Amino acid sequence: MNSRTCSVLSERRSIRNFKREPISDGVMQELMELCRWAPTARNSQSYYFIVIKKPEIIGALSEIRGPAKPIGNAPIAVAICGDPEKSRRFIQDACIAAYHFMLASWCLGLGTCWIADMDRPEVKEMLGIPKEHYIATVTPLGWPEEVPPPPPRKPGEEFFRTIE
Ligand SMILES: Cc1cc2nc3c(=O)[nH]c(=O)nc-3n(C[C@H](O)[C@H](O)[C@H](O)COP(=O)(O)O)c2cc1C
Repeated sequence: MNSRTCSVLSERRSIRNFKREPISDGVMQELMELCRWAPTARNSQSYYFIVIKKPEIIGALSEIRGPAKPIGNAPIAVAICGDPEKSRRFIQDACIAAYHFMLASWCLGLGTCWIADMDRPEVKEMLGIPKEHYIATVTPLGWPEEVPPPPPRKPGEEFFRTIE
């Protein structure tokens, strides 16, 4: 196993606090390139990303889920969406693309945090997303202020059941 490459899987953490430093266009281009490679049903590529830099919109998105405000702490928020016209597996495609985005971001030194329950009419209206589309998450994106220690995980044996 190439543990240098695989460490992205074990060392990625959910980041909720970010430095004020902006993210350059060059880094965003690198991220965009990596995000082309998420798997999708029948290679439909039914997912898409909306990159939000406008502070007023970031502030409004941050308010939607109540007092925990990781989105509001970041210079950028990204909505990761699925288009039902491109695939009937658009929900799975969007969720996988979201995790792919989180791992790609981590590879570039950036932090993200999955924020649940953002598939809401008011978010779609704010971002100009058609109502039939699915929003897997809206994640904050930025340079981590710090990387928290890993929350405990169950041992591998508890996740795996083998049928022989
Ligand atoms: C489906 C899903 C929903 C989540 N929702 C939230 C959320 O709404 N707010 C938040 O701060 N973190 C959220 N998280 C992040 C989890 O709390 C985090 O992944 C978990 O505690 C493990 O920590 P780690 O990502 O650093 O390994 C969510 C993660 C997933 C996969």
